[in-house]
Amino acid sequence: MIFPEDFVWGAATASYQIEGAVKEDGRGQSIWDTFSHTPGNVAGGDTGDVACDHYHRYRDDVGLMRELRLAAYRFSIAWPRIQPDGAGSINPRGLAFYDKLVDELLAAEISPYATLYHWDLPQGLEDLGGWTNRDTAYRFADYAQAVHDKLGDRVGDWATLNEPWVAAFLGYGNGVHAPGRRDPAAALRSAHHLLLGHGLAARRLRSGGARSIMLVVNSSPVLTPAQVNDPAAVPGEADAAVAHRIHTLLTRQFLDPAVHGTYPAEVLDAAARNGGTGHILDGDLGLINAPIDLVGVNYYNPCVVESGPGLPADAAWPGSEDVRFATADAPTTAMGWPIVPDGLSRLLVRLSQDYPRVGLMVTENGAAFEDVVEDGQVHDDQRVAYLDGHLREVHQAIEAGADLRGYLVWSLLDNFEWGEGYRRRFGIVHVDYATQTRVPKDSALWYRDVISRNGL
Ligand code: FCB
Repeated sequence: MIFPEDFVWGAATASYQIEGAVKEDGRGQSIWDTFSHTPGNVAGGDTGDVACDHYHRYRDDVGLMRELRLAAYRFSIAWPRIQPDGAGSINPRGLAFYDKLVDELLAAEISPYATLYHWDLPQGLEDLGGWTNRDTAYRFADYAQAVHDKLGDRVGDWATLNEPWVAAFLGYGNGVHAPGRRDPAAALRSAHHLLLGHGLAARRLRSGGARSIMLVVNSSPVLTPAQVNDPAAVPGEADAAVAHRIHTLLTRQFLDPAVHGTYPAEVLDAAARNGGTGHILDGDLGLINAPIDLVGVNYYNPCVVESGPGLPADAAWPGSEDVRFATADAPTTAMGWPIVPDGLSRLLVRLSQDYPRVGLMVTENGAAFEDVVEDGQVHDDQRVAYLDGHLREVHQAIEAGADLRGYLVWSLLDNFEWGEGYRRRFGIVHVDYATQTRVPKDSALWYRDVISRNGL
């Protein structure tokens, strides 16, 4: 099974999950510092204070990437390193870290893919309302421009936001992520302002000469329980209607405005019933609909729903009245997430049909399992099987006509898995947090061979 010649193979990480060094070189506080230091928010009381200490070990980590023959590395930039309070003057020492990282990557012939926002909002902006405040979108565009001004001569591939659904609905809706607010109206407002920030930033990147701009979404096919193992199953009317609504809230809420310049009626309806639509101003959709080249797709598992008459909306899903979130009949990872590889091909084919003008890239895919180090090795057969199964589906989607440019595994390293802390390991490289020793797992060696032969 051979992939297209120019198919991009790589791995992804995010700043707060790996960097540590939270008080160094003038970095300001982020909402994840505040949130993780608040007891009860993160398993084990874990924080990103040290994480993988990547801030000090980036050279070795790039060396590891080179050994694994990665062609691309997707990382994120910590806004509070660049603007400690989220606005105003630029902190040159913060920018210098990414400057050195980019040079190191280029010297190793690894293409840098920079994500501007992977959830570590400067706390100073949260104190002014965070993403519920329209002004944050404009601050984001200024920050994006400052980063592009410095790195744009060497970084051609940019992502504005990582998973705005998660940032808005887990951050401001059910409060499972920073800043931990629980308010459906705030979540819907935040989603809109994130989109506005995306559009404004994309325009600045474009006028600065960026080669490729993408928006990264967490997307899943939304299936009824019967469809999980039988793609041909035809759901009843009520089940089909709730599946369509959840697909709209999860994926179309972001991609329709960004790619088509329109909001689905279901999103406007959810907003109308939760705080109103007054935050959506005339002209906003035009600003959000800035030309982009790629949609980045982060896929882990399908979303499984059925009709549940009389149920109230889930806190993360304003507009999900009458929806029962169901479990899939499938094996699960250590996160409890169902393993449904062909969910990925179903999703990619659908996205390529719904958004034919943009290319696609799998910007995250991977799994947490209970890894054990034995004699300096990690035999993570389950992760190899997970990745192998999903890559076969990626290939299948390409055969079916999806314009798919590459695949980035989540994650290069075990890291700070948000509310789950360090107990969930997604890396293809094992990290011993006491010694910061890195050990490539069997999956890393397997992935290196996949890359070398450009196929399975
Ligand atoms: C995604 C996040 C990423 C990582 C994976 C497991 O939602 O973008 O940071 O935590 O899930």
